[in-house]
Amino acid sequence: MCGIVGYIGKQKAAPLIIEGLKRLEYRGYDSAGVVVLEDGAFNVAKKIGRVANLEGEAARHHFHGTFGMGHTRWATHGGVTDANAHPHVSSDGQIALIHNGVIENYATIKKFLLGRGFTFKSETDTEVLCNLIAYHYAKEPPAAEGDSRFVESVRKALHHAEGTYGIVVMALAVPGELVTARKGSPLILGIGDGESLVASDVAAIVSRTQNVVYLKDGEIAHLRAKDFSITTVASGEAAAHVIDKVNWSIADAELGAYAHFMEKEIFEQPVALENAMRGRFAEDGSTAQFGGLNITANEFRGIERFMFCACGTALHACMVTEHLIERFARMPVECDYASEFRYRNTPLYRNTLFFVKSQSGETIDTLAALREAKRKGYKVLAVVNVVGSTIAREADGGIYQHVGPEVGVASTKAFTSQLLIGAMLALYIGRMRDLSFGDGVQIVNALKGAPDLVRRVLQQAPHIRAIARRYAHYTDMLFLGRLSLFPIALEGALKLKEISYIHAEGYPAAEMKHGPIALVSEKCPSVFLVPNGDIVNKIISSMQEIKARKGPVIAIASESVELPAGLADEVIRIPECHDAVLPIVAAVPVQLLSYYIAVERGCDVDKPRNLAKSVTVE
Ligand code: M6R
Repeated sequence: MCGIVGYIGKQKAAPLIIEGLKRLEYRGYDSAGVVVLEDGAFNVAKKIGRVANLEGEAARHHFHGTFGMGHTRWATHGGVTDANAHPHVSSDGQIALIHNGVIENYATIKKFLLGRGFTFKSETDTEVLCNLIAYHYAKEPPAAEGDSRFVESVRKALHHAEGTYGIVVMALAVPGELVTARKGSPLILGIGDGESLVASDVAAIVSRTQNVVYLKDGEIAHLRAKDFSITTVASGEAAAHVIDKVNWSIADAELGAYAHFMEKEIFEQPVALENAMRGRFAEDGSTAQFGGLNITANEFRGIERFMFCACGTALHACMVTEHLIERFARMPVECDYASEFRYRNTPLYRNTLFFVKSQSGETIDTLAALREAKRKGYKVLAVVNVVGSTIAREADGGIYQHVGPEVGVASTKAFTSQLLIGAMLALYIGRMRDLSFGDGVQIVNALKGAPDLVRRVLQQAPHIRAIARRYAHYTDMLFLGRLSLFPIALEGALKLKEISYIHAEGYPAAEMKHGPIALVSEKCPSVFLVPNGDIVNKIISSMQEIKARKGPVIAIASESVELPAGLADEVIRIPECHDAVLPIVAAVPVQLLSYYIAVERGCDVDKPRNLAKSVTVE
């Protein structure tokens, strides 16, 4: 959840590192720090708060060296203080370390080190690991050629570290070299022209190079400006690697004319949907096709049920997919929070196909669910946005979302593209079973029309903004929907609470009278999702129940729905559309409403408090 950037080259390191940290700030933003090895010493600056604070602090340090590393922290062990910020330097002054993850046995290691004269300035597990590396470094005999004891001391320390880590290490005696290793926390090497970089996210280094190596769990890399080598943490044997090319540029991760990344990403959705569906419809126009599933049509036909796991917004996308697979393919589907699945002993039937969804491809709970399902012998497919991410690599096959970098902590374009891919998957599975050619063609045409329908909803942004102004002062809100729009109600509530800090709950509209109705008063508005369909009158009845209790009502209703006069205080219209597309179209107004309410309240939309873009700790 923290951000890592390291640089070795000819340029001044600190400005490059700080620039990279700014691009990673969305991953965690409690504090930030940078270290440059210059004039035979570690020059360290660290500061709580945003990277901008670090920039101010850095100015006083007069950094000039060409080799260093930096970190943005999302606190796990120890409060948000300058002392707890990374980098940490060992008490003998020899080793500097930045770290993402959690060293679970830090207390035992700390006790061991205290007994050997090491001292500690912070409350962090990272400082413990830093001193453990220093301990091994001091013990390791100098090598005949080069200073391989640097790598060896990191390797030895990691043999004793339990938990997760993505680390970058510098040694005072070894300028111009970085050692980096991972277990459960992403790290990417950037292979530049006469310079090497390392980062926890491509966004931090893509301005300098598009040639990257995705480090794998259990690997340790040794970087110099002009070369690098990768070995295994366990045995020190050379590890094979490939140099990949990043298929997006720095411009894709820039704000442009928008005020926030969330706003930009909401408005990018029509194009994101076009990219997610490109080349993925079969020639006969009646079904979808996917390149990377790594499962034959015959194997697919043998599947009898599906299990979906994910977290947060991605789980809401799974719930919509569940609905559509049941509908188009008439097959049983189960969805679970990845964090629960990993510890539950869920009985899985033999012919179950397991799916995970994750924008980042790094969410630790989703990754753990994937591993648990694989361990039990199931094939796991993944819907992932970030190419080369851990989940993408560990899954047996899958579907990339192709929506480009999503920077806003609140997921938007990744969500709607997951909805789209879920609908395509339901269509694909349905067409292998009983869904007719004609129904397939209808769904394909509907999905192809989704980007334009979303464009139409986006044109209502000024109207939604005006509503947001009238509702921004409330402290509680309900989001109510049914069937495939129940997960959209959950998503609306999640969006609102994460970026505006308004307490919000998502509920199936009819379930509301079994509890949440107690919250309803003139102080608690309800947002209703009202598509035209078999049960539209039931939803209207639920709205009447709210109105009878003086609850303000915002209706997000299909164009053809006739709402009784005076029932809704505000109405946002969405175009008529096929059920496969409805959740996508209905998601956009709840995103806009939450966004504008948060802006109205003066919230830091792209960096909401306590959150991080990708949650890589349990
Ligand atoms: O990267 P992932 O899709 O695995 O992330 C899962 C959740 O952490 C994420 O969707 C989270 O709920 C977002 N902040 C929602 O906007």
